[in-house]
Amino acid sequence: MIACKVNGTSRRLNVHPMKRVLDVLREDLGLTGTKEGCGEGECGACTVRIDGVPVNSCLVPAAHLDGVSVETIEGLGANGKLHPLQDAFVVEGGAQCGICTPGMIMAALQLPRGASTVDIQAALAGNLCRCTGYEAIYRSVKKGARGR
Ligand code: FES
Ligand code: FES
Repeated sequence: MIACKVNGTSRRLNVHPMKRVLDVLREDLGLTGTKEGCGEGECGACTVRIDGVPVNSCLVPAAHLDGVSVETIEGLGANGKLHPLQDAFVVEGGAQCGICTPGMIMAALQLPRGASTVDIQAALAGNLCRCTGYEAIYRSVKKGARGR
């Protein structure tokens, strides 16, 4: 049995230790906001935060979840409101097909208010958008970054 916290709630997971965290989230916990793009650690669509660090959940086995805290896109909003980063993606058009968007947001979460374009590009270096249009994504992060 694997014990961890997911979006602040204690969970006990009876899953194979080599099951991908991406699949545990989507199939066992119903948290389908985390997306699969490449499944090979190349695109960042599956980014979640484990103990505050952004990771590609398609590369992490469930065994690594024991004793850690996981944060997914579902954990960001509060009191029925979107997180400022989520809101900014809506306002600035940063979400096109939306597949990369949760990963982009989870990767950008630690950026402080007023982050520079260079800092934003560095934070999102591992996140690919196949709809193109990175300018709207950078604009969204610039508007919504609040730091962690
Ligand atoms: S789906 Fe995990 S990095 Fe692409
Ligand atoms: S919005 Fe479609 S992949 Fe980025």
